[in-house]
This record gives sequence, structure tokens and C-alpha cells, in this order.
Amino acid sequence: MIEGPGLLQELKAKIPRLRRPLVLVGLMGAGKTSVGKRLAHLLGVGFVDSDAEIERAAGMTIPEIFAKLGEPAFRDGERRVIARLLTEQPGVLATGGGAFIEPRTRTEIAAHGTSVWIRADLELLWDRVRDRPGRPLLRAPDPKTVLGDLLERRYPIYAEADVVVDSRPGVSQEWMARDIVRAVREWDAGRPGSPATFEECVG
Ligand code: S3P
Repeated sequence: MIEGPGLLQELKAKIPRLRRPLVLVGLMGAGKTSVGKRLAHLLGVGFVDSDAEIERAAGMTIPEIFAKLGEPAFRDGERRVIARLLTEQPGVLATGGGAFIEPRTRTEIAAHGTSVWIRADLELLWDRVRDRPGRPLLRAPDPKTVLGDLLERRYPIYAEADVVVDSRPGVSQEWMARDIVRAVREWDAGRPGSPATFEECVG
């Protein structure tokens, strides 16, 4: 059956309008980029990945930046790039796994956006990153142990994010994106009077 424009209007009305950037945080392999793209599509807003922006701004890949300039220089560039992206048209911003761990970057994110931690357990993360080179922190003799150590150290800090959603094996990106919208709406509703992430009355 072909549905008329009425249904389209109705579906559109269920998608809230974004007023503040949605900032995805979490460890490597959590799905920040893939879910973020799906989420941006669902909301009809732009998507940007901070790692890609840093690479563009530096004219180097992340491994090259780590090798040539070192991690502190990368973190500094990351903070500046994220601060800039946060003030642009509200969209979905996927951050590199270490960004939210830096206190100044975390403060910038808290001031301008709504942070969403995509939480996943070690096995799932490892499954997703094990065959993908290009992450300098995992270029180690035992990368799974490194990932586990990062998880131990970083999870208490990611827990400061405004909203937490769990990523589980077999859950689609579409489902994750919808789950994020639901969780953020709930979070908005629990803070009347504070800057809301979504403007609900969309027709
Ligand atoms: C890092 C995660 C990477 C990238 C860099 C450092 C980290 O991003 O920013 O390799 O410190 O966890 P992803 O989380 O997108 O892999």
C-alpha cells in the first residue's frame, strides 16, 4: 500500500529538531562514527568526526601526528578542533576515544553540547578493533591488554557524560541511533529550565 503525504508528515513530526550538538564519546570500537552517521541521518543534521577533522587540519594521518608530533600535540589539536566544531551548526560530533578524557575538552563539550557515552564491554570493542590497524595506542605487543587498561582508566570518566547508551553485539546502528534519541529526550525532560538538546515541536 502506498501511503500518502499525511503519514510522511506524521513521521517527520516524530523526529525532534536538534538545538545543541550531540557529542558521542567512548572507547575505540564503540561505534561512535558508524552510529553517529546513522544518527545524523535520522535527525537530518550534519555529521563530523573529530579525528577526520584533525587529519584534515594537520594534513597528516593520526598515526603520523602521533609519530611526528607526539600525543600531547595531538591532544592539543584535538581540543582546539572540537572547541571549533562545537560552535558550528548543531549536528552529530563523533570524538576520538581520548578526547573526553582531557579535562579541558570535557569542559568545552559540557558547555556547548550534550554528551552521549556509547558503552561497550571489552570483548565487543576488541572484536571491532582487532583487525583494524591505524590506532597508534594499540600498536603494542599485547593490544587487547592495552585496550583493557584504557577501559579501566577511562570508564569512570566517560561515566560523567550526560547520557549513556549500551552497545551490544547484534544491535543494529539504526536501533542504536533511535535509542540515543530516546535517551537524550528522557534526559532533556528530566532537566526543565536547562538548555534542551531537542526542540520537540516539529511539524
Ligand atoms: C584514541 C582514539 C582514536 C584516535 C586516536 C587516539 C584514544 O579515535 O583519536 O588514535 O586515545 O582512544 P577512535 O576512538 O575513533 O578510534
